[in-house]
Amino acid sequence: MAEGQRQFRGMKPIALVPCAPLLSACVSEQSMLHPAGEDAEAVANLFWLMAAGTVVIWLIVMGVTVYAVLGKKRPKTERFADRFILIGGVAFPSITLAALLVFGLALLPDWVRAGTADLRVHVTAEQYWWRIAYEQPDGSLVQSANELHLPAGKTTEFVLTSTDVIHAFWIPSLGGKIDVIPGRTNLWRLKPTEPGVFRGVCTEFCGPSHALMAFPVVVHEPGDFDAWLASERQPASEPEGHDLFISSGCGACHAVRGTSAGGAVGSDLTHFASRRSMAAGTMPINADNLGTWLLDPARHKPDVRMPSYESLPQAERDALVSYLLDLK
Ligand code: CUA
Repeated sequence: MAEGQRQFRGMKPIALVPCAPLLSACVSEQSMLHPAGEDAEAVANLFWLMAAGTVVIWLIVMGVTVYAVLGKKRPKTERFADRFILIGGVAFPSITLAALLVFGLALLPDWVRAGTADLRVHVTAEQYWWRIAYEQPDGSLVQSANELHLPAGKTTEFVLTSTDVIHAFWIPSLGGKIDVIPGRTNLWRLKPTEPGVFRGVCTEFCGPSHALMAFPVVVHEPGDFDAWLASERQPASEPEGHDLFISSGCGACHAVRGTSAGGAVGSDLTHFASRRSMAAGTMPINADNLGTWLLDPARHKPDVRMPSYESLPQAERDALVSYLLDLK
């Protein structure tokens, strides 16, 4: 830690310049200050009100301090001192805090009492990925993983649980966060207002790869969302290499709908290659990343449950990679 701090202190500000594009990329995808959802907007408004209030109060306190130190030293009456304490020390903080309380309470989401949501999505957090299933009108679920798709302008209810430790579910651009707790089901609602691609994260420390547990969030126009869900519902198009996928044991943990691979331990891979990223929002999907992932998943994600496939011949790993890349 001390070493890292020393390195950071020795850094010239110019060294941060290459980070600028990275930071600006984060701004739109994962920032509660650039809201794209109803709840996030309320949170952002509260933040800006608090920030402005902080500046005003800081200026007042600094002004009084400067006056006390540098101002003309005229004797004050006891009556003036009493009034100053009553107004500045009692009335002003009470009124300010009461106003903030009323403003804050008014921001509480009213969906707690509201009617049914437009869509229900079941989210299960696991070390270190997200099982995501879309509830159909008949109650059946369309299984997916590590990438969330939502319709803009509609309220989605999330049914959240965990299989191992406490995680937390947060899409800063869309709203607040909620803990995801084993043995318990939490409900949460979000209403995205703008189409776009955002970033969701786990925001409760859950193990060595806590920081590698993210998920892209794609908000569609409502019609586009229905089309996406219809294609996600389809089984896989049985690409070449399925026998190897089964004989290597992949199907014991992973499901590829429409094939004999029906494992429920790991993520559903039916339309894996149509996702934006792999390993829970941490790496782009390409042959290199898939190859090194199969060789040693823990190198990319410490403490991951998936075993290494180092024992497979290189040619078979390559064949598995092309099979996965075909799962569109
Ligand atoms: Cu899951 Cu942190």
